[in-house]
Amino acid sequence: MAKRQRVYPPRSNRFQDKVAIVTGAAGNFGAVCARMLAAEGAKLALLDLVEDKLQAVATEVRESYGVQVKAFTLDVTKEADVEKAVAEVKKEFGRIDCLFNNAGYQGLFAPVDDYSVEDFEKVLKINVTGVFSMLKYVSKVMIDQKGGSIVNTASCAGLGCPTAMPAYGTSKAAVLHLTKISALDLAPSNVRVNSVSPAFIGPEDGFMWRRQVELQAQANPTHAPERYYSNNPDEVSKQMLESVPLRRLGTPEEVVQAVMFLLSEDSSYITGTDINISGGNVLGGSRG
Ligand SMILES: NC(=O)c1ccc[n+]([C@@H]2O[C@H](COP(=O)([O-])OP(=O)(O)OC[C@H]3O[C@@H](n4cnc5c(N)ncnc54)[C@H](O)[C@@H]3O)[C@@H](O)[C@H]2O)c1
Repeated sequence: MAKRQRVYPPRSNRFQDKVAIVTGAAGNFGAVCARMLAAEGAKLALLDLVEDKLQAVATEVRESYGVQVKAFTLDVTKEADVEKAVAEVKKEFGRIDCLFNNAGYQGLFAPVDDYSVEDFEKVLKINVTGVFSMLKYVSKVMIDQKGGSIVNTASCAGLGCPTAMPAYGTSKAAVLHLTKISALDLAPSNVRVNSVSPAFIGPEDGFMWRRQVELQAQANPTHAPERYYSNNPDEVSKQMLESVPLRRLGTPEEVVQAVMFLLSEDSSYITGTDINISGGNVLGGSRG
């Protein structure tokens, strides 16, 4: 039986009658964002590759919040899928006010000399080309409307340089740069583009956190913890948390609150910027 999901009470109605697209809507951040946008009155187009999970999220959000929700299955790496989905959203809802451009893939964990070219290409295709294609087709609609807000999901892996993540870190650095260039290109049409960079996000028993802890522990070829993460997963968890000044994992809700701010008119004079949601992880914390 599906786990009963928390129903967020409305905090305000910043998105009343707005139309929002969320990509990666079957996943962790995407589903939370769909719920929070619905709680504030948005009409939703939910997009993802994984049909059954996507339909489950769409049904749950529609029933919990009573807003218009439509699911679109697509592969963001396929330009024809993206073009078709965006045209269908426009036809169904009449406009597109917000895009949470969030579908992504973390890739493998291996040092650069051992990293598969095939997986490198896959990571770049999903995280960069996919984000770009969504930006391209949604921005055409927003330009015609003379307004809109786009938030791309980058990562602290694109701000810092995590070992054994050459593909993911590179892809997210590209998302940060693409955000800035798009912000300049789209500013004349009053379309804002920003990004968020989460770091270590829970829950502690969640798939993403466990996966990165376990795979980082396997990725150290030197068996010395100084240069890479330790080979012991418990030790890796400790090392990761010790790099966070607030000394805890973030929650998906804490990530999405920043996304909601950037998507809404609360940030009407902000474009081309990135908010890192990392508990201070990006500060470095050198005591030297
Ligand atoms: N969870 C974290 O700790 C963390 C930290 C930093 C950045 N991020 C980024 O946040 C975003 C969301 O991550 P999440 O934690 O919700 O992960 P997740 O794996 O739960 O969700 C990602 C979703 O993207 C979808 N997706 C993947 N490839 C796709 C494709 N080709 N076409 C359409 N959909 C596709 C997946 O099906 C999945 O539902 C990603 O871009 C990720 O890189 C996550």
